[in-house]
Amino acid sequence: MSDLSTSHAGSARGVASASVPRHVALVMDGNGRWARQRYMPRFFGHKQGVDALVRAVNAFADRGVEYLTVFAFSSENWKRPSEEVSGLMSLVLVAVSKYLTKLAGDGVRIRIVGDRETVSDKLRKAWEHAESLTQHNQRITLSVAFNYGGRWDVVQACRRAIELGVKPEDVDEAWLARNMALSFAPDPDLFIRTGGEMRISNFLLWQAAYSELFFTECLWPDFGEAEIDAALNAYAQRDRRFGMIRPNQVVAEGA
Ligand code: IPE
Ligand code: IPE
Ligand code: MG
Repeated sequence: MSDLSTSHAGSARGVASASVPRHVALVMDGNGRWARQRYMPRFFGHKQGVDALVRAVNAFADRGVEYLTVFAFSSENWKRPSEEVSGLMSLVLVAVSKYLTKLAGDGVRIRIVGDRETVSDKLRKAWEHAESLTQHNQRITLSVAFNYGGRWDVVQACRRAIELGVKPEDVDEAWLARNMALSFAPDPDLFIRTGGEMRISNFLLWQAAYSELFFTECLWPDFGEAEIDAALNAYAQRDRRFGMIRPNQVVAEGA
């Protein structure tokens, strides 16, 4: 093999020498702590978090990132107090009405990934509207993971295989990848988490198998161009091998 490109479904481009990630996954964590530091209710942090996201989408697009996938509400976030959950649900509707026109004008294609069955009709319709309005945009694809969990994603793909009567020998990695929530995107090259925790919290468990991980103490509402550049610079230094060894390593050891 002449380069370190991966044959994994959805990751067709050889990325070993690509210094800009095509796809960035982002756990936007730390809104509550950001608000608490300012003696404000947690909701204030979530509200500022939406503004930070709109800024971040444009900054990533300006740097050549093609796909940005953000974790906005996890399968487990339903376990939070009901006022916070309902606050987050209404914030999404407010955010769509406040920012959809701007994002559409900025060339952002919006996709929603996650379980749509268990959210309100109003929210589902807002998602569908955002997706259809922006479907032809090409500058960057923003996928919002809402009511999403990596385990849910694997389970829903398996269920689909059973429902469709797919033969067991046809259910392989490529089939599953084609039937998971991010089937339209290459696997994330870079996985960023703000807020200081060093965990995945059930985000893209399958798709992040070979993502480069970057954790920052920065709380999500403060995440701006300086932090984006720090993450992209760190990524550019990484040596991605995908389980292989570099051709020059083989030569060096054989010599
Ligand atoms: C992330 O911020 C946003 C969501 C999970 C919706 P948090 O609300 O988890 O903020 P912290 O981690 O409590 O500071
Ligand atoms: C992950 O953050 C989910 C989102 C950012 C939407 P959490 O705050 O829910 O994760 P834990 O509970 O600290 O693992
Ligand atoms: Mg958190």
